[in-house]
Amino acid sequence: MILATSPMVGSALEELGATHEVRIIPFRSEAWTAALPEARALLVLLSEPLTPEDLGRAPNLRAVATYSVGVNHLPLAECEARGIRVISTPGTLTDATADLALALLLALTRRLAEGEALVRSGHWKGWAPDQLLGMGLRGRTCGIFGAGAIGRAFATRAWALGMEVAFWDREGSGGTVDFGPSSGPRIPLDALLARSSVVSLHCPLTSDTRNLLDARRLRQMARGAVLINTARGGIVDEAAAIDLLHEGHLGGAGLDVYAGEPALDQRWLSAPRTVLLPHLGSATVETRSAMARQVCSGIREALGN
Ligand code: DGY
Repeated sequence: MILATSPMVGSALEELGATHEVRIIPFRSEAWTAALPEARALLVLLSEPLTPEDLGRAPNLRAVATYSVGVNHLPLAECEARGIRVISTPGTLTDATADLALALLLALTRRLAEGEALVRSGHWKGWAPDQLLGMGLRGRTCGIFGAGAIGRAFATRAWALGMEVAFWDREGSGGTVDFGPSSGPRIPLDALLARSSVVSLHCPLTSDTRNLLDARRLRQMARGAVLINTARGGIVDEAAAIDLLHEGHLGGAGLDVYAGEPALDQRWLSAPRTVLLPHLGSATVETRSAMARQVCSGIREALGN
C-alpha cells in the first residue's frame, strides 16, 4: 500500500492507483499513523516532517517520497540505514524556481509592490521624476549561494539582465561555474557577501547551511544589497535580517520561504522593502504535474512494478 497525505496536480497519482493500492490520509492523523504498518511507500509534502519513529512503525517500507526537491524534512540517515529509497523531484522544478527568484528580484529592485499599492490606494498623483526609484541591475554583481541546477538557472537570468555573476558553494572557492551562456567565479563567502548587490540563495538546507546567513554574515553584505530566498527559511537568521532591514543596512528582502512556515515571524509583516510570497517556487501547472509524474514513477520503480 502507498500511503499519501494529499492529492497531487495532474493524473499521475490516480494512474498509480490503477495498479497499486493508494490511500490518501491526512498527515499525522490517527488514521495515518494506524496505516503506517501496512505502508510500502510513503508520500509526503515538504511541510510534513517525517521522523525516525514514523519509519519504525512502518516495517514494510521500501520508499519515502516527497512532492518536492528539498529533502530536509525527511529522516535521511534512518532511510539509508534501513535501505529505504528516498524519492524527490530534482531537475523538474529548476526553471520554475529560478523564474520565481527572478520575479522576486525584479519586484524588489523595481518596487513593484509599492507601486501597485500606490495605484490601488487612489492616491497616485501621476508621473514624477523621483517617484519610487529602484535599483538598476546592469553591471552589478549577483552573488549566488549554491551552484546546483537552480543556482545556475538563476545565474542565466541574472546574466541576461546584464549582471556579473559569482557563486559560493560547499566546494569552496576557486575555479568557475559554467551556467550555459556564460560562467562566473566561485569565490569565498565573505568576498561574495561584500561584493554582491543581490544575494540569492539556492542551496539545500543541511546541517552545514542552517543559519549560514547569521547576523554577522548578513552584516557583511554590502549596504543596500538585497536578499532573495527561494531555498529554505532556516538558512537565514530571520530576526537579524528584519533588524537589518529596519536599520537600512539590507536594501530589501524577497522571500518565498520561512523558517517555521506557514507560521511567520510577525515582524516580517511590517518590515520595510520586503516582498513576501507563500512558497510558490514550483507552483506552475506544468511543473507540479511533472513533479507528480516523477514521484509516482520513482515509487513504481522502488516497489519493483
Ligand atoms: C521544493 O520543492 O523543495 C521547493 O521548495 C519548491 O519551491
